Amino acid sequence: MSAIRLLVSSDVDDVVEAVARDQHRASELNHFIDTALDREELSDSYRRRQTPTWIALDGTRLVGHLTATTLQRPSGRVSAWISPDATSFDDVATLGALYAFAGARWLADGVKDHEVWTYDRPDTRDPWLELGFAQRFRRGCLELASRGEPNWPPGYRLRHGTRDDLDLALHFNDLLDHEDAAGPSFARPEPFDRDGLDETLDDPDTVHAVVEHRGVPVAQAIVFPLLPVRGAHERTVHLSAVVVEPAHRGRGVATAMLDDLADEARRRGFQYADVTWRTANLAAAAFWRAYGVTATYVRLQRRLGEDAT
Ligand SMILES: CC(C)(COP(=O)(O)OP(=O)(O)OC[C@H]1O[C@@H](n2cnc3c(N)ncnc32)[C@H](O)[C@@H]1OP(=O)(O)O)[C@@H](O)C(=O)NCCC(=O)NCCS
Repeated sequence: MSAIRLLVSSDVDDVVEAVARDQHRASELNHFIDTALDREELSDSYRRRQTPTWIALDGTRLVGHLTATTLQRPSGRVSAWISPDATSFDDVATLGALYAFAGARWLADGVKDHEVWTYDRPDTRDPWLELGFAQRFRRGCLELASRGEPNWPPGYRLRHGTRDDLDLALHFNDLLDHEDAAGPSFARPEPFDRDGLDETLDDPDTVHAVVEHRGVPVAQAIVFPLLPVRGAHERTVHLSAVVVEPAHRGRGVATAMLDDLADEARRRGFQYADVTWRTANLAAAAFWRAYGVTATYVRLQRRLGEDAT
């Protein structure tokens, strides 16, 4: 049984070592996870954290740690976010002991939504499931060079959206939310951030792809450079809001659209594409698998007070 206490500055080097070890192992097992880590920056962030970090000790040896960043969602709900560098543990008992302390503090602060991003492997994911977390999203990656020339079905063409296409993007977004709200997802999408979408589309680095069939828009994707984030390779684009009108599905439209975009991104110097999907969206999961995406991370969630039994 490990002893749990709050982190003090002399523990920081051991925590950074644990994060580096876990990231290195993740990268060895999955080359889509980058091994680059700025240890100094991570040390500084642990030394300066406003939110507490708990550590687990076996004697004097560090065997785990847990912290979170609290963020307010557009809905106003506050969540505790645990990224891969915010935790380390050898087994479920250590994680459980750490979460008992950390979770109690978050609850005392009124933070009932606990969100975890972790490497998509049984040893990193399953201990959270044992504690009552549920799998919600999966992230994956693809090498752009693995895709060939687009093979468009007859009658379809791609154009780049303009500022005048904001309403079209909102329409496709509604379609996505509507489908997520149905089974088997039964998701309650966050209130939509129209200004955020406007800003994304207005960014010169964003590509809003609109596919038309005989002049009528039937599909879209929004592509932009992935912000630098630990574990992601540089020169990665994020593929988002990929939607095809129901009547045009199953004809290879999404595949051709993404191949076109992959080709364009490659010519702009990008090497990888990153994508996130809801795990209960089985069509999306099957589509990305067929498209050649390799899973990298999984996002797990626990909403205390609602699902507690
Ligand atoms: C997922 C989606 C974009 C696929 O678009 P599409 O144009 O029908 O996809 P394609 O025709 O290019 O499909 C390519 C391959 O993906 C797989 N696939 C696509 N849809 C599938 C489904 N519903 N079930 C199982 N496999 C599927 C198949 O392997 C398919 O190849 P095949 O037709 O030779 O069997 C579309 O269903 C959609 O818009 N869904 C709602 C929005 C959404 O969930 N977007 C993803 C957000 S992450």
